[in-house]
Amino acid sequence: MIEFQNVAKSYKSKTVLKGVSLTVQTGELVALIGASGCGKTTLLKTVNRLGPADSGEILLDGRPVSQLPLAALRRGIGYVVQDGGLFPHLTVEENLELVLKNAKVPAAGRTARAAELLQMVELQPDEYRMLYPCQLSGGQRQRVGVARAFAADPALILMDEPFSALDPLTRAELQDTLAALQRHTGKTILFVTHDMDEAVKLAQRICFLENGRVVQYDTPENVLRSPADGYVADFVGKNRLWGNPEFIKARDIMKKNPSRISRGRSVLQALQVMNHSGVDSVLVTRAGQLEGVVWLADLQKFKDYRAPLDNFISQDYVSVYEDTSLQKIIDTIDYNISGVIPVLSHKGELLGYLTKSILLATLSKQYETPETQSERSGVI
Ligand SMILES: Nc1ncnc2c1ncn2[C@@H]1O[C@H](COP(=O)(O)OP(=O)(O)O)[C@@H](O)[C@H]1O
Ligand SMILES: [Mg+2]
Repeated sequence: MIEFQNVAKSYKSKTVLKGVSLTVQTGELVALIGASGCGKTTLLKTVNRLGPADSGEILLDGRPVSQLPLAALRRGIGYVVQDGGLFPHLTVEENLELVLKNAKVPAAGRTARAAELLQMVELQPDEYRMLYPCQLSGGQRQRVGVARAFAADPALILMDEPFSALDPLTRAELQDTLAALQRHTGKTILFVTHDMDEAVKLAQRICFLENGRVVQYDTPENVLRSPADGYVADFVGKNRLWGNPEFIKARDIMKKNPSRISRGRSVLQALQVMNHSGVDSVLVTRAGQLEGVVWLADLQKFKDYRAPLDNFISQDYVSVYEDTSLQKIIDTIDYNISGVIPVLSHKGELLGYLTKSILLATLSKQYETPETQSERSGVI
């Protein structure tokens, strides 16, 4: 765990960090995001004391970094920068072994560990270990940079825009590698980026810095839903929520007031409800709880309109919970289904409904320009 307590720093007369307080839990990947010059790199460097804080304190698992011997502090922290920071005159293997040596890994174990590290970042050891950094592509160099940061098995890894210089495809591949590594190793990672998509993809929480202050620190979902201010909102962009269907919940897009009818009514009454609303199904409720669906097609075969509805209540429908994500709904719902998809609370209360056309309309929103979207009101 890392705790920033009221960390401040100035360069000459310019105050760059203005009292930053922030806690990153063990095993968490936090993205530090903000405009160029807002203090992201400066904040990272207060941790490994490449640029110590003027005031305030940073605790690593409860120990103030200012009190730790510098060599021990740096050994316990992996660091990846934009250009990889590999030694150009050392091979890939030598770059890794140097870190292992500093971490007091016995010489006999270093080569095997270097190979293991290369595999971890999806580089074939035999193919890459003897190459020099200049013989690698940008993406491969960053893979080695990531491997090196993990090499000494540090408690914390600092990453300063590690993928910013890469082309989008390579970048996406490295993001996938890092996400998998973080899942497997459970490392605490503080990751600087100026790319919101990257932050949303990788981070468990996102910290927005503006002019040396934290303006919002929350989960990607909450940041996308409710940006703290205009600065964050600009960063988030209006369409981004719609591009992340895992953050959109059934209750965000459902229609309220579905056509409903109580158990004990007649076939005729059900037909009237459907006719009135122009729908081909009606939801049967008792005390707010969904009991089933009556489909128009089932009633049409039957001629005794006064008969009770109860024999026609079907359990042949798909329902979703209010907090089921759009992603999950898309993944699981059979697109051949037609008709109503009831939205329920976890207590079984009927809250609203979805239809295939509501789902399709929601998915197409991500392709709208911000202008067309802001012309509407009342959408999320
Ligand atoms: N070594 C330095 N000397 C003087 N000013 C600096 C130094 N490093 C950074 N700054 C200034 O501090 C501010 C924050 O820089 P930085 O932390 O690098 O921002 P970011 O990483 O968010 O782009 C900038 O205005 C920058 O010019
Ligand atoms: Mg920077």
